[in-house]
Amino acid sequence: MLDLFKETNSNLPPISSDDLNDADVIKEIKALKERILPKHLVLGHHYQSNQIIQFADEIGDSLALAKKAASISKPYITFCGVHFMAETADMLTRDDQQVVLPDLNAGCSMADMANREQVDKAWSFFQASTSKKITPITYINCTASLKAFVGKNGGAICTSSNAKKIIEWAFKQGEKLLFFPDQHLGRNTCFDMGIPLDEMVVFNPNMLNGGLTPEQIDKAKVILWYGYCSVHQGFTAEQVNQFKADRPDVNVIVHPECSFEVVQAAHDAGSTSYIIDKIKDAPAGSKFAVGTEINLVNRLAEQFTDKEIISLSPYQCLCTTMYRVRPRWLLASLQAIEKDKPINVIRVPKEIREPSLIALERMLSIS
Ligand code: 13P
Ligand code: SF4
Repeated sequence: MLDLFKETNSNLPPISSDDLNDADVIKEIKALKERILPKHLVLGHHYQSNQIIQFADEIGDSLALAKKAASISKPYITFCGVHFMAETADMLTRDDQQVVLPDLNAGCSMADMANREQVDKAWSFFQASTSKKITPITYINCTASLKAFVGKNGGAICTSSNAKKIIEWAFKQGEKLLFFPDQHLGRNTCFDMGIPLDEMVVFNPNMLNGGLTPEQIDKAKVILWYGYCSVHQGFTAEQVNQFKADRPDVNVIVHPECSFEVVQAAHDAGSTSYIIDKIKDAPAGSKFAVGTEINLVNRLAEQFTDKEIISLSPYQCLCTTMYRVRPRWLLASLQAIEKDKPINVIRVPKEIREPSLIALERMLSIS
């Protein structure tokens, strides 16, 4: 399966296999990492493959990695994750530090489901539809220009680990919430906080006025954006119910980017770190069917051999954009850093960084 993705990755590797075979790429990364250690650090998201995670100095979820980036003093950071994470790291580091994303094509399909023009247009429609205050909250999985929108409009950013705290904060600012781009995290978290589904509406940016009337906007407590993670949305309530019927001894635990039906059917739901902690703290012999990205599920199964850990889905729920960060791309990034001529540097322009930082720092102070 992994080789299939290697072949379908249309992005040509910066170092070809004619020049260096796979084993030598790994050896070279190891040696190079040692040599540039004083000036460089690798951050790796939990959904990265083991071939990359073995080189990560810090492994974490979105929140942990954002916090880590804010505390690093080394001049170079290689971010093994996706584009919005590297942008966030760039905004939280000093101007003289450089954040590198090994493959610039490592994006996030959910982050691409809301752009600034759509959000500005939607915001004008909301303002014209209600006199009540709306606080915008964006999931960290979005471009920096949306983080800037939120910063400018009195809102904050959240991750899946702190969504509840941030939404509680938002409701202290005003009566209504706009949550984007992930409808599922917004709906699951708000429902968990006691907000009924009939007080939530979904704004679809591909429809005129989002498919909503001004009256619906005025009435709703929560406006969700029609966005989703294609990896997590792939899990189904049927899979959960089948597991519960066939394997009553297994705990079904899922990420809140899964649909409402999946989260409701599962035994438990929580962020990437929540899932990891639950599995780590469970007694030997515990059994879990996990609804999240496959690289993490496989790694948990390898780490906790005294427990049974399997994927909730029989299909490969791989985040293909995370998977774009491959050893050959990492090696090319490190080679460029060694020469102090970094490639694939992520730099957010000042006019976007400043308002984004307001929203990011708000998040970090609340969580
Ligand atoms: P967390 O790391 O916040 O759990 O987010 C999951 C995810 O989909 C990252 O893109
Ligand atoms: Fe985006 Fe989903 Fe991949 Fe996370 S797992 S980077 S939300 S597509």
